Parts: sequence; structure tokens; C-alpha cells
Amino acid sequence: MLAVVTGSNRGLGWHVAHQLAEKGYHVIAAARQHHQALEVARSIRQQGGDASPFALDVANGEQIIELASWITELFGGVEVLVNNAGIFVDQGQSLTDIELEAWNNTLAVNLTGAMLMCKYMLPLMRSGGYGRIVNVSSGYGSLQESGGLQAAYRVSKAGMNGLTRVLAAEVEGDNIKVNSVCPGWVRTDMGGSEASRDPAESAQWITWAATLDDDGPNGEFLRDGKPIPL
Ligand SMILES: NC(=O)c1ccc[n+]([C@@H]2O[C@H](COP(=O)([O-])OP(=O)(O)OC[C@H]3O[C@@H](n4cnc5c(N)ncnc54)[C@H](OP(=O)(O)O)[C@@H]3O)[C@@H](O)[C@H]2O)c1
Repeated sequence: MLAVVTGSNRGLGWHVAHQLAEKGYHVIAAARQHHQALEVARSIRQQGGDASPFALDVANGEQIIELASWITELFGGVEVLVNNAGIFVDQGQSLTDIELEAWNNTLAVNLTGAMLMCKYMLPLMRSGGYGRIVNVSSGYGSLQESGGLQAAYRVSKAGMNGLTRVLAAEVEGDNIKVNSVCPGWVRTDMGGSEASRDPAESAQWITWAATLDDDGPNGEFLRDGKPIPL
């Protein structure tokens, strides 16, 4: 069983990659910098797991296509995709202050990157008749919970939740599940040291959604294993 984790070199992605390896998955440790991907794979192997590094910037569509070809050639298919890579560059900013470049980068990484990963991993799941996709989202992406400010991040995650719903409907009946997970406010570089949640504990809910039983949820936005409003 093969699992791809984007942004596996730090924060939640690091823990999800290690947790999936502990569950027996061969983890494709994807990270922007090759040496960092190598470091994750090395750490997983040191702990007795199985992993391969892959240098992947999710904003680079060509690299995503290369990943799909590489997986096809070496492994034949993939069972799990965790779209974890994300950026939050407009924290606390008003829409009037957001630079167009920041807006575009946020959508490119958080939304288009996740969409392209789904697009190119889905055929590799369909061929094996099994798939679990987790889009790591945020409560800021909930249109019902959402407040103001940081529009780029909020809209990117709301879009990601939309992607989850649309794709989940498309794969209904294929034994493929697509869910969004909000990890809560987590002590990572993004969440900061004041955040309330431990990264390893929050990551467990992402890992849980990545390893759902056949009767598990599909097309949901989940926090702590329970649906929250989209
Ligand atoms: N922490 C929180 O409180 C919180 C709350 C809600 C949702 N989330 C979501 O959880 C996910 C993980 O966040 P985190 O807290 O673990 O953040 P983090 O510590 O800042 O880690 C972000 C990860 O994303 C990677 N990344 C960024 N841009 C990338 C790109 N273009 N291509 C590939 N990888 C890229 C980073 O790689 P580099 O090292 O190369 O930059 C890093 O591995 C994100 O999607 C975030 O939006 C976090």
C-alpha cells in the first residue's frame, strides 16, 4: 500500500508521513527540497518503516506529472494521497492589503496544487479499485464558520472543501473516499507556539481519514473525526 504525503518535511505532514509508515504504508515523502524529502524518508526508515523521497513543489504541475509517471513505473498504483502542503501568507491581512502575487501563490499551492494532485493520482487509485484522499483544510475555509480578513487563505481552503465535495461525488461507488480535514489550531511553524494543539495528536485525525474503512465518510469536512459545516 502506497501513500503520498505532500509537505512531509515539517509540521503536520512530518507526523502524518511517520504515522502512515507505522501503519505499514510505503510512504512517498514529498517535499519541495530534495534533501528534505530524503531526510523524512531516512527518518521513517530509521524507525523501521518504508519510504521513498520525492522532490515536489505542488505549485509545479510538471513535477506532479513526473510524480505520477514515477509511481506508475515503480509501484503501479497509489492508495492514499494526503494533500497537506499549504501556505498562509496573508495572516491577519485585509483584502485591501493583499498583494496579487500573494493571492495567486496561495491559490496555486493550497487549491490548484491539491486539485492537480487529485487529478493525477486518481487514475492510479482507480486502477487498483481503492483510494483515500485527504485534503488538509482549515476552519477558516468553512463558509459558515468563516469571519473576515486573510481572504486568500480562507478562499483557498473553501475552494479545497468544494473540490472535496465535487470529487467525492464523482468517485462515489469506486471505493475511493475524498474528505477534508481541519486539524484545529496546531503548534507548527504555521500555527505558532501559542496554538492549542499538539501536531502529532492533530496529525492522527488526518491519518485516520487517510485510512478509513469502506463504510467511512465521503465528501465530508471533518474535525476530530466528526463532520463540521462546510
Ligand atoms: N497549523 C495550524 O494551526 C493549521 C490549522 C489549519 C490548517 N492547517 C493546514 O495544515 C497543513 C499543514 O500545515 P502546518 O501547520 O504543518 O504548516 P507548516 O509547518 O508551515 O508546514 C507547511 C508545509 O507545506 C509545505 N509547502 C508549502 N508550500 C509548498 C509547495 N509549494 N510545495 C510543496 N510543499 C509546500 C512546506 O514545505 P517547505 O518547508 O518547503 O516550505 C511545509 O512542509 C496546511 O495545509 C495548513 O493550511 C494548519
